[in-house]
Amino acid sequence: MEIGLKIGVLGTGTVGRTVAAGLHGLGYDVFVGTRDPRKTLERTDPDRYGNPPFKTWLENHPGIRYGTFAQAAEHGAIVVIATNGNGTLPALEAAGEYNLNGKVLIDISNPLDFSQGFPPLLTICNTDSLGEQIQRRFPNAKVVKTLNTVNAALMVAPEQLAKGDHTIFMSGNDLEAKATVSEILRSLGWKDVIDLGDITTARGPEMYLPLWARLFQTIGGPNFSIRVVR
Ligand SMILES: NC(=O)c1ccc[n+]([C@@H]2O[C@H](COP(=O)([O-])OP(=O)(O)OC[C@H]3O[C@@H](n4cnc5c(N)ncnc54)[C@H](OP(=O)(O)O)[C@@H]3O)[C@@H](O)[C@H]2O)c1
Repeated sequence: MEIGLKIGVLGTGTVGRTVAAGLHGLGYDVFVGTRDPRKTLERTDPDRYGNPPFKTWLENHPGIRYGTFAQAAEHGAIVVIATNGNGTLPALEAAGEYNLNGKVLIDISNPLDFSQGFPPLLTICNTDSLGEQIQRRFPNAKVVKTLNTVNAALMVAPEQLAKGDHTIFMSGNDLEAKATVSEILRSLGWKDVIDLGDITTARGPEMYLPLWARLFQTIGGPNFSIRVVR
């Protein structure tokens, strides 16, 4: 993959920060987007995982640019979706369809509802997925669902955090887009990338989340993933 390739990351949470830093470390030109850049920098409390506020993270990552969802999407030849599942479509609306048309959208978001506590419920399932909803709403973008089945830290360092071979899934309608994403995944350390098929296959990885949540409780931490044994 071309060094210096421009990537927009929509999302300032753990996933946005981790993937942005991981890709920047590989030589990509990364721009992170948020709803309101000023308000996000004004936050002083740690996030729900105890991480320092976004401002501290940004100061510790010189070279990563920062602005609105629209600026991040405009910047990226590839756009990573790392927004809360309920905010994914609103965030993409804010990013602007004209900034998304023709681009590869790497969708990591999950349609989770924590309103009744843990484990979360799925807001979309069985006959639809968030990946499909994005693809339907933005038909000229090339949505590739991936990385949503693992914890943020594992996304960019699979083998360092859980020893062994891991499998990561990919779903999307566009073969060229999936080839691009597969190359990025391999550069992040993923060796076993399974292309499940078109975007309707995003249903399975999204519906894996209830099992992920129970494994998290049983194992007592998030650093695990799936290996598909053939
Ligand atoms: N945490 C993990 O390890 C993990 C692993 C796999 C998949 N995921 C999925 O990845 C996504 C990001 O997770 P996360 O833990 O990093 O953080 P998160 O708290 O789920 O999402 C934070 C981001 O969502 C944006 N957002 C929230 N509500 C919004 C709304 N109504 N409209 C527009 N944007 C909105 C926030 O915007 P602002 O920047 O403006 O605040 C922020 O950038 C989620 O869908 C999650 O399910 C997470």
